[in-house]
Amino acid sequence: MDSIKYTLAEKDIPQSWYNIASDLPAPPPPVLHPGTGQPIGPADLAPLFPMELIKQEVSAERKIEIPEEVQQVYRQWRPTPLYRARRLERALDTPAKIYYKYEGVSPAGSHKPNTAIAQAYYNKQEGVKRLITETGAGQWGSALAMAGAFFGLEVLVYMVRVSYDQKPYRRGLMETFGAKVIASPSETTNAGRMILAEHPDSTGSLGIAISEAVEIAAQDPDAKYALGSVLNHVLLHQTVIGQEALMQLEMAGDYPDIVVGCTGGGSNFAGIAFPFIGAKLRGERDLRAVAVEPASCPSLTRGKYAYDFGDTAKMTPLVKMHTLGHTFVPEGIHAGGLRYHGMAPMVSHLAELGQIDPRAETQLGCFAAGVQFARAEGILPAPEANHAVKGAIDEALKCKEGGESKVILFNLCGHGHFDMGAYIDYLAGKLRDHEYSREEVAMALAGLPSVG
Ligand SMILES: Cc1ncc(COP(=O)(O)O)c(C=O)c1O
Repeated sequence: MDSIKYTLAEKDIPQSWYNIASDLPAPPPPVLHPGTGQPIGPADLAPLFPMELIKQEVSAERKIEIPEEVQQVYRQWRPTPLYRARRLERALDTPAKIYYKYEGVSPAGSHKPNTAIAQAYYNKQEGVKRLITETGAGQWGSALAMAGAFFGLEVLVYMVRVSYDQKPYRRGLMETFGAKVIASPSETTNAGRMILAEHPDSTGSLGIAISEAVEIAAQDPDAKYALGSVLNHVLLHQTVIGQEALMQLEMAGDYPDIVVGCTGGGSNFAGIAFPFIGAKLRGERDLRAVAVEPASCPSLTRGKYAYDFGDTAKMTPLVKMHTLGHTFVPEGIHAGGLRYHGMAPMVSHLAELGQIDPRAETQLGCFAAGVQFARAEGILPAPEANHAVKGAIDEALKCKEGGESKVILFNLCGHGHFDMGAYIDYLAGKLRDHEYSREEVAMALAGLPSVG
């Protein structure tokens, strides 16, 4: 029998997160205090994050135990299924074997609850009452809003203006879970007011929304800030994805030659790829990890590996990452979750070590791949996930050209049921491509902070 779906039992949900820091040949560069230029310590982060998450941020332990309360919530949708894309393989007429891990079965519709639940849990444990965050596409905001409802925390979400207008139903979902949603930039913060004074029609960016959320969280002793990507602890929480996929591929009798994920801040890519890259770093197995980003926000492929702020108003510490510059405001493409000026320091570090094969794809090419995937497999990917679909299809077509039967695994990190406006516009021929010119990239990079 040709199996389509590989499913695990609830008892198979990983009991620990995998920390790739334990397998690195060299640690990533330290995070610096923007005032002193010196490496920051836990006390610097304490106003924004609970101590358990700060410890995870700097941990070098290979395994970090998942608290039972978090595992209990994970059981609501985990383990997620691994599919063999047999109809897509036939449609492409490729000898490659294509597998995808489907994170869209979570109640919020993406991989984001894997970390939202963990973050809400640790904040609740440490007596926090309110969580403040930003959201690009609304997937992360929905995930944190749901986690807040589960753990009895208030949630305030700064939603990037362009997504706020494009995705009213995502906003509706967050409000249904009990969160308050404000379009960013807004009049509620100094950072927002400053941007609006200069650019009254600003479409917003994740960098601006982060500034607003951090500003509010830092002023309120009962509140903390929560981030849906980029930081080490967020990437760590996502490793349940790759660990499950490893077990499921074992059931199928396969091991990936290529693993593919889309990259905005790097968390779903890390989630699926880090357990495999770890095995490679330990010399156990080989594979190629492909990170696909939008051509309109190409931090890994065209950004500079440099110290930069995580936000536009320069409120965060300085992190070394691939960046387009903290003032960079990307085009209003529909993959709102991929519109971040930087890349996770850990993903950036691994890219510098030659462990990641990055590429950039345009919006139209990714929607075409998503539609082809939907017609073959019946699942409608989130616009962000379409970048991974495109990467996987391209690899499968290369296998066809070369007559090679490689095993390709990709992360279908979310569904696109709240993104129908984007699909309708794509099908009506209304979407456009945008690639940054060399001059535009250089201009955005000119504002990078100078670090000695
Ligand atoms: C469905 C989906 N995929 C991907 C991303 C990008 O984030 P990351 O690169 O951290 O997975 C987002 C972010 O909001 C998202 O909503």
